Amino acid sequence: MTNDKRFYLTTPIYYVNDVPHIGHAYTTLACDVLARYKRSRGYDVFFLTGTDEHGQKVEKAAHAKGETPLDLADRVVKRFQALWEKLDISNTDFIRTSQERHKLTVQHLFRTIEERGDIYLGEYEDWYCTPCETFWTETQLMDGNCPDCGRPTDKLKEESYFFRMSKYQQQLLDHIEANPDFIQPKSRRNEVLSFVREGLRDLSISRTSFSWGIPVPGNEKHVLYVWFDALTNYISALGYPGDEDGRYATYWPCDAHVMGKDILRFHAVYWPTFLLAAGVPLPRKVFAHGWWTVEGQKMSKSLANVVEPNMLIDKYGVDPIRYFLLREVPFGLDGDFSHSALVHRINSDLANDLGNLVSRSTAMLNKYFDGTLPAAGPAEEIDTALIEKYAAVLAEVDQQMDNLAFNRALQTIWTLISAANKYIDETAPWGLAKDPDQKERLGTVMYNLLETVRLIGLMVTPFMPETGARIAEILGQDNTNTLLDGQDVWGSLQAGQTIEKAAPLFPRIEKD
Ligand code: MSP
Repeated sequence: MTNDKRFYLTTPIYYVNDVPHIGHAYTTLACDVLARYKRSRGYDVFFLTGTDEHGQKVEKAAHAKGETPLDLADRVVKRFQALWEKLDISNTDFIRTSQERHKLTVQHLFRTIEERGDIYLGEYEDWYCTPCETFWTETQLMDGNCPDCGRPTDKLKEESYFFRMSKYQQQLLDHIEANPDFIQPKSRRNEVLSFVREGLRDLSISRTSFSWGIPVPGNEKHVLYVWFDALTNYISALGYPGDEDGRYATYWPCDAHVMGKDILRFHAVYWPTFLLAAGVPLPRKVFAHGWWTVEGQKMSKSLANVVEPNMLIDKYGVDPIRYFLLREVPFGLDGDFSHSALVHRINSDLANDLGNLVSRSTAMLNKYFDGTLPAAGPAEEIDTALIEKYAAVLAEVDQQMDNLAFNRALQTIWTLISAANKYIDETAPWGLAKDPDQKERLGTVMYNLLETVRLIGLMVTPFMPETGARIAEILGQDNTNTLLDGQDVWGSLQAGQTIEKAAPLFPRIEKD
């Protein structure tokens, strides 16, 4: 059965040894916008986020603070959850890898792959980077250090369970080649392809050197490798292999795993091969976004330039931050965060373009019609052009959202905002208002303008939920009207509706 109106999307699950920063907020925010957009288009959306709590890195961080790993996790999880609430994140579920439901699935997945003959016990000797939780061969190291983060690695030799990843090399290649959209963006897909073509080694998937993890079923001396554990969250949250509430059958395979480019390989190579080995269908799409630098520099604790999202939201408001992060940089490319760019975007795109459109339109309606919306009379060419522009914009936005091209979707919406502002200049309602014979024409112009404002409100809602709700409220629409589906038709705004004169949506920010 095809479930084309279901949509399942995931963020990575975040390590609890660190408190949330703008990079984490970015991944989660992008998923939230997509989840809200899909819901507004009538999809039944399952949007998952959560925390990655096991592994040596978390164990070390907890011991350094003199607490148990679980206490540390409990504390940091609250920080993530509070931030998601503050950022208006609409996740359906929140999975913690320390939960029993997760453990059951991970152990089941291990047993399934083991029974199918693709897990064996061997001995492991390699270089391990604890901060990245990644093994490297001697030749992969850069001057003895981790090739990803540059930090020192440790030589580890231990008994370990191995997953026969090598066996799935060809099958994975075939899958990637047959499904051009499986890994996005394209440049990243090519990187993964060349990585896989170089050859896949069997993967060590258990550890005996620490204990904070999920025990290997039948051999409790071993805990499972944190990536085997973590990736499985995407099905454990659906209740796999049991399916009491039908979540798994309804939502798997996943429509989009979204993550930063640094962890694409785990999602585009490890995860699919685990699933192939277990006989579970593969996700439909894996999308890797770029990384943020801050004022031109890599974000790091030692540079003390880590951007703290709570502080930003307190200072600028949640919607401007949501808008900026998705508008400023094409999703998939790296970008730079700077306060001056943020202030510029708020002042020009939000206060000037969108804010002014809403205040001008509602002010004129109040001035010329006491705030009561007139019916539209016959359409002139300029009106038809505006209506057609809206239809074209919606179709384009739909496509861009399917490609996770958030910045382009916003640009497209903004072309409608510009068109509406231009419509005001060209129809010159203040001129029409001087001539009593033009009363009907003035009414038509006002109707078209406010109807455009309503539709713009609907389209910006996934990006800026509070702003969307505010626009709906100004237009006297109830909350259900913030959904595009069924409301996306031109002419849904009722004549006779009272519309208030809107206070500025976005106060201008003085550059300083
Ligand atoms: N726990 C793993 C993921 C397991 S998923 C099965 C993990 N966690 S993380 O907390 O380190 O990072 C999660 C996400 O934050 C990644 O998508 C990563 O790309 C993103 N970011 C961390 N720093 C970032 C920037 N400076 N810029 C953009 N995103 C970045 O990895």
